[in-house]
Amino acid sequence: MDPQGNASTGLGIEADDRDYTTYDLLVDDAPLSEVIRATEIEDLCVIPATVDLSSADIELVSNEKRSFLLHDALRQTAMDEYEWDYILIDCPPSLNLLTVNAMVAAHSVLIPLQSEFFALEGVSQLMLTIREVRQAANSDLRIEGVVLTMYDRRNNLSQQVEQDARDNLGELVFRTVIPRNVRVSEAPSYALPVLNYDTNSLGARAYRALAEEIVANHQRLAA
Ligand SMILES: Nc1ncnc2c1ncn2[C@@H]1O[C@H](COP(=O)(O)OP(=O)(O)OP(=O)(O)O)[C@@H](O)[C@H]1O
Ligand SMILES: [Mg+2]
Repeated sequence: MDPQGNASTGLGIEADDRDYTTYDLLVDDAPLSEVIRATEIEDLCVIPATVDLSSADIELVSNEKRSFLLHDALRQTAMDEYEWDYILIDCPPSLNLLTVNAMVAAHSVLIPLQSEFFALEGVSQLMLTIREVRQAANSDLRIEGVVLTMYDRRNNLSQQVEQDARDNLGELVFRTVIPRNVRVSEAPSYALPVLNYDTNSLGARAYRALAEEIVANHQRLAA
């Protein structure tokens, strides 16, 4: 759902190789089989995005179902054949119709929080939007958690942001923090997730720990 399409590029799908994209899924009701693409990674598929998506915001103003397009697309019966465990919706870095579509479609919101000074201000705005989406369209929307990223243990600011986040958001903040790690920033240029690019790097270890924490939370919720 991010017109920048970084997730597509990071998984090796070049911009000129994206015939069908999220835009077609949302605006032209393209069938899932056309938009879902395999990747080099086993069991991981992607629906690519291109800059086209940035115009959807304006094109859809007069569409009555404009906030429910992704919700409806992901719940069509053809979806049952795929048996996904998880669908991750990468969101643009702003609160707009695309982000709202993601929140209406999703079960939960995973909030990355950069360990920088103004980051917490963005979270309070996001919390308001989540509350509005709950009231208007998706009453079951959960907050999956807040994950601190780009964390530097030697930096006082990182520790301060972590302390503020834990004081203000409590249990919502994951125990796992993602360190600033050069392997994470290199991985996309090799079109690989960091887990495959350098599986023993601190970044990969942290993301694996985060995944384990999320799965454990889900098991607790289901029990
Ligand atoms: N833990 C990390 N350590 C080092 N670099 C990182 C880390 N996480 C992300 N980066 C780098 O920071 C940049 C932005 O990361 P990313 O694309 O994940 O952020 P984003 O919030 O999705 O950005 P945008 O809002 O533009 O989509 C990328 O170049 C990425 O390689
Ligand atoms: Mg992004």
